[in-house]
Formats: sequence, C-alpha cells, structure tokens
Amino acid sequence: MADLDLAESHLLGWLSTVGLDAHYVRAEGDYLYRLDEQGNEIPVVDFAGGYGSLMFGHNHPEIVALAQEMLAAGAPVHAQFSRHPYATELAARLTAIVSRETGEDETYNAVFANSGAEAVEIAVKHAELDRALKVAELQAEIAEHIEAARAAVAAGTASVPAEAALAVGLDATAPEPVGLEALATRITEVNAARAGVEPLLFALEGGFHGKLMGSVQLTHNAAYRIPFAALGTSARFITREDLPALPKIFEEERVDLLDLAVTGNEITVVSRPLPLLCAFVLEPVQGEGGIQVLDAESAALIQAACAGAGCPIVVDEVQSGMGRTGTFLASTGIGLRGDYYALAKSLGGGLAKAAVMLARSSLYRPQFELVHSSTFAKDYFSTTIGLKVLDLLEADDGAAYRKAAERGAHLIEMLRSVQRDFPDVVRDVRGRGLMAGLEFQDQSESGIEELRQHAEGATLGYALAGKLLRTHRVRTFPTASSPNTLRFEPSIHIGDEEVARLESGLRDVCALLRTQDGAGLLET
Ligand code: F0G
Repeated sequence: MADLDLAESHLLGWLSTVGLDAHYVRAEGDYLYRLDEQGNEIPVVDFAGGYGSLMFGHNHPEIVALAQEMLAAGAPVHAQFSRHPYATELAARLTAIVSRETGEDETYNAVFANSGAEAVEIAVKHAELDRALKVAELQAEIAEHIEAARAAVAAGTASVPAEAALAVGLDATAPEPVGLEALATRITEVNAARAGVEPLLFALEGGFHGKLMGSVQLTHNAAYRIPFAALGTSARFITREDLPALPKIFEEERVDLLDLAVTGNEITVVSRPLPLLCAFVLEPVQGEGGIQVLDAESAALIQAACAGAGCPIVVDEVQSGMGRTGTFLASTGIGLRGDYYALAKSLGGGLAKAAVMLARSSLYRPQFELVHSSTFAKDYFSTTIGLKVLDLLEADDGAAYRKAAERGAHLIEMLRSVQRDFPDVVRDVRGRGLMAGLEFQDQSESGIEELRQHAEGATLGYALAGKLLRTHRVRTFPTASSPNTLRFEPSIHIGDEEVARLESGLRDVCALLRTQDGAGLLET
C-alpha cells in the first residue's frame, strides 16, 4: 500500500475528525462491510446509498451476473464510432417510459454521458446550440425582409415613412428623407449589438446540478460556485417566492431585434423577440440542497412562464429519477414536463458509470451529435446494464416503483415519529419515496462549544453522521447545502429491521442533543 496518500488526503483527514473515515471491504444490498481489529466483518447499514445511485442496492446479484457474463464473453466495451444497438434499445425504452409517464407521445432523443453533471451540461449545451441556431434563423429572416423592402422601394411600390426612421433613432427631420439603405444599415448595426448578449440561464435557489465548469454555474451553493464563477455564464437563481413573478422576470430580460415589414405601400419597423433564454434547470426534488420537494403549484408556474417565454426546461432527475420517488421520473408526480431530462446514478445499476440526456425530438438538433462526444459514453457495458436496470424497474408492471413508494412511506413515517417525539431537536422531515431527509434544529446557541463550532462550521450533520456510524453502524451523510439535514436514500430492498436500526440511532442522537451531551455525541 502507498505510504503517501495523494488521493484527496485533506478530505480524508477531515472525515477522520468526525469518525467517517471508514474503510469498507465489501458491499451487498443495503450493507457495506468494514473489518474490526481481528479482521471480522462489521456490517454497516448504508442509507447514503451512493448518494441515490443504488435503487437495487450494492452488487445486486442479477446485475453482477450480467456484468460477469459480459466480461467473460469478451464484450466490446469500447467500440466508439460504430453501431451501438444496445444504446439504441436503451434510448427507445427510456423514451417509451417517459412517454407513458408524461402521457405525451413525443419521443426524446438520447445523448449518453458518464456522470450526472455531464448529462446536465449536455442538456444546457444542446439548449444553447438550439438557441444560437434560432438567433441565426431570425437574423436570416430579417435579412430577407430587408431585401424585400429594398425591392419594394426600388419598384416604387413602397416608401420609408418618417416613423420608420424615428423607430430606429434616425433623424427624420433632416432635409434629406431617410432612405431604405440608411434604415437597413441602422437596423443591422442595432441587431448585431443586441444579438451578441449573453444567453440567460435560470435555476432554483438551493439547486444542485454538478460541480464541473459549466454545471457548477447552475449549482446554488456559493462555496461550490463562486470560486469558479469567472469560468462561465452564471445562472440567475429564482426563489419559490419569485415564481409567480417569473413571467415579469422574463419580460424584463426581453431583448428585441428590429425587423422590416412591407405593409401596403409603407415600410414599417417591427420588433422581434431575441431568443435569449437558454434554459431553466431544476430538480423536482432537490437532493444535495436538502431534500426539498417541489410542489405541483410551483411546477405549474414554471411550466407556464417558460412556455410563454419560449424558455426550455431542463428537468434534472439525476438523483430523483430512476424510480427513487415511486415513479420513474419524480417530475411526473408534480405534472412537470421537461424539454430535456438528465438521468444518471441508478441508471448504472450500482456498477457502471452511466448517464443520459433526453431531448424532446421536436427541438432536437441532430448536428449536436457532430459537435459533442465523450470517450466512454454509450459504451456496451454501461448501456447493457442500463437495460437491465429498466428490466428490474419495469418488471411485474412496475412493482419496483410501488416498492419504492411503500418503503419510502415506511421510512418517512419513522422519521416523522422521531420528529413528533423530539420537536425540540428535529426541525423538519421532508422527502418523497426513497429520497428522504431529517433536518435537525440549529445548534448555534448550544452550551457545548464543539456543537456550536459544528453548527457555525456547517458540519453538524457530519458530526451526527459520525455518531450514527460509530455507535449504531448506520451510514448516512448530510446534504452539503443544508448541513443540518441528514439524507436517507436506501435501496427498494431496505428492510424494517434496517429502518428500525436507523430509528434507534436517530433517537439516541436526539436524546443526546436534547440533554446537550457533547461527549456522548462527539467522542470519536
Ligand atoms: N444533478 C443532481 C440533482 C445531483 O444530485 C448530482 C449529484 C448531480 C447532478 C451531479 O452528478 O456527481 O454524477 O456528476 N449529486 C450528489 C449529491 C453529488 O451530493 O447528491 P455527478
């Protein structure tokens, strides 16, 4: 083993201060296994669940068997730039499920990726390509209209009235009337300046969409985003309270290009809205932002405002999708329809790195495929596993979705029972299906110095997670952007016994917080 840890040793050092620096040697179902001093396995119930990527648990036997079978058969894992029938099949099945859940018969084109952030970035990149092409199409239309006006004036069938000159800021009182050429030149100058404005991206406050250069601009957590803000187009973050004013917010950002129309024998200047809104990116259930469920009313406000303004919606289902909330897409449950979807995490079956961006076929630009690629995406191994994951999800008429809903209800009911018994310690319980969170009350006023420090350092959740791991052999983590919220995202196979163990651990932590027993909570 290497003497010097050059793989993020700083983070590991910090994890050890809260007792989370465990070394796991095996994983199965909802369990991870570490070794004690004698080399015996210690089972740890895993409620972190790969941050939502283990719908079927660790090393699900059917998925492992498929992986072994593929590898033993010499699977052509990397066969870039060739036929990928497995990816074609996966895309077809994904679009069929989306169509079934949304009730729409429109298909979705798939572009595969390797991570959630990448899938989000592909959606935004495609939306930007689509927007830029729409701008070019509008500019071409305006050039045609200018040409038509020029021909009408040359044929003597139309003239340039003073109003037209005024409309573009030309001096209509000059002795020499403003001719079409002056008008056309002015319009071209104005449009060139306006068409170059930066596209607008919108996201919800609290949203998390990844930490890569582009996706981090959409992630609300300032600690993640601000250091890299100079690298990209930052999103405008919208609060829930802002949503009723969204149409007005869009309207205030409106930029028009100028166009000419020949109306009878007059040339008139008309305004044409510039496609400026690149995308509105949101999660139907915010994961890293603290397990915040978007309600149907908010979804409807966003849907209507975006439809009215021609702003595409990117529904980021990286964490909430793949059946975790009881339907394939969490957005189904709130009536939200995406122009784009990002899926990842459980798509890889807990074994492969897999992600996909789905784009409405009506807005899909095929040329995108010629300007975007990724070495490992759409590979035989991950897409074949993705097909298996869909088999498991869709089997018995979607029994897995019902199981996720039932297990999630059981889990959330337990969390609420803890909240009912410890209202002084537990602030809130949130979630849908197997995407649940319990938020502790703030401890900034604690009489225990260390607890206050954790509260002020946004590390209380990690300290409590350390206690759960140490004493109760339960593994979970807080949501980094809501640091007092512990999140619970087990597999659909999570048993009553494991939920009971979590309950016992949480009640122990709550009792220690109630009595402000710093030693009991924080000893490592
Ligand atoms: N979008 C959402 C909604 C996510 O929850 C995540 C990751 C990503 C995008 C990025 O995916 O990590 O595969 O690049 N969520 C993890 C979390 C990190 O903490 O919940 P990635």
